[in-house]
Amino acid sequence: MEKHRPQFHFSPEKMWMNDPNGMVYHKGDYHLFYQYYPDSTVWGPMHWGHAISKDLIKWEHQPIGLCPDDLGYIFSGSAVVDKDNTSGFGEEGEAPLVAIFTYHDPVGEKEGKNTFQTQGIAYSTDDGKTWVKYDGNPVIPNEGIRDFRDPKVMWHEETGQWIMTLVAGDHAQFFSSSNLKEWKLNGTFGKDKGAHGGVWECPDLFKMKVEGSEEEKWVLLISINPGAPNQGSGTQYFVGEFDGKTFTTEQKEHLWVDWGTDNYAGVTYSNAPNDDKIFIGWMSNWMYAQVTPTKTWRSAMTLPRKLNLQRDTKGHYLLYSYPVKSFSTYVENKEELSLEVAPNGREIIKNKNLGQSEISFIATSKDFQLELGNDKGEVVEFGFDAEGNFMIDRSKSGKVDFQEGFGTIIQKMPVVDLPKGPFEVKIVVDWSSAEVFLNKGQYVMTAQVFPNDLYNQLVIKNESNVVLEINN
Ligand code: FRU
Repeated sequence: MEKHRPQFHFSPEKMWMNDPNGMVYHKGDYHLFYQYYPDSTVWGPMHWGHAISKDLIKWEHQPIGLCPDDLGYIFSGSAVVDKDNTSGFGEEGEAPLVAIFTYHDPVGEKEGKNTFQTQGIAYSTDDGKTWVKYDGNPVIPNEGIRDFRDPKVMWHEETGQWIMTLVAGDHAQFFSSSNLKEWKLNGTFGKDKGAHGGVWECPDLFKMKVEGSEEEKWVLLISINPGAPNQGSGTQYFVGEFDGKTFTTEQKEHLWVDWGTDNYAGVTYSNAPNDDKIFIGWMSNWMYAQVTPTKTWRSAMTLPRKLNLQRDTKGHYLLYSYPVKSFSTYVENKEELSLEVAPNGREIIKNKNLGQSEISFIATSKDFQLELGNDKGEVVEFGFDAEGNFMIDRSKSGKVDFQEGFGTIIQKMPVVDLPKGPFEVKIVVDWSSAEVFLNKGQYVMTAQVFPNDLYNQLVIKNESNVVLEINN
């Protein structure tokens, strides 16, 4: 087993990876493209790496999908199934896949051209295996805003057109098109809304039903770097309305998809069955992404999470995210583990599979604390502080000194609105990550950890009703 290699999270076979791209479900396969540099374990000229999966957990690596060309590197973007062949890229009666991405051109910029970031498209008529770049690229030129990127495209039923959301420095822009080739700017959002600690990146706009009702709202995800609640990179969201031209919201608070340090640039699948909103994020942070202590590859994706939109008793809209169902099938091999009382009175569980497992239990109060550790004495701690914040402390979790902030930032998540009574705590642990889901995804935190040995013991304070589901 390769050290630190995740077992049930997607990671590239080798070399550098960042954002998920072009996530589209098509003919039974979930396609995952990703920002990829095949020549090094640090960031460089971007390609789109490619993998496919039937269940979002087991992935098959595929040949690189898109390579840089004369117009630039291939930055983040999306892909759609062009069901009605509006682009004309498909044969009669065939639905092509169309990828929409940013061209990033550092060379052109040096030569004084206004081409730093533009938008391009490519299509596939063999179900995503091979891609042809459109000869009319770029389809949207740069009009002078340098950071101008990460197009996410969706079909807007109400107005019968394609809508592209992209980011331009400190705000989002909305374009429309009938054929994916010609685009018109209709609206902008965000200069005076949300968190602005860093540049806006990787937007996603989609409609959701509010859980348990017929009400529909629009959700806009925006990643920012830096400026996240626990420093560095993070993803905020807005809930509001979209009229085909622009997005509006009454929301005043800053809301985050995930409070941990390691969930960035995440977006949702296009064309997923049942119109589910399935989210995958890059499980890293630009603060230290390029120096994490793996050797032959860098980074993994978060577990795929199903999003759902809830309206609380105060009328606030909240986005929950929770591992997709197929993950529980994958870890169905339940081992119920008995607790021993440790000499210091705490309850302790030992199991060699703990380091790659799903740990779930029902907490009866916020009083519990967990310590996940190994025989080397390395430990990552989870629990609430006196103010009711949920905390992850990875200062003693294993390798931490590759970057100053990695161990020293104690991650905090204000848990202000848990319903009264018992609530579920789920922690998904893999070789080099821990993902925490409180109350079925109401509060979420994701953190990378790099223990020198797999974790194999769990100390639990103040809770005894613990059932572990261990994957083998
Ligand atoms: C986000 C990001 C995107 C960009 C890509 C480049 O992590 O900066 O905005 O398209 O990475 O690799």
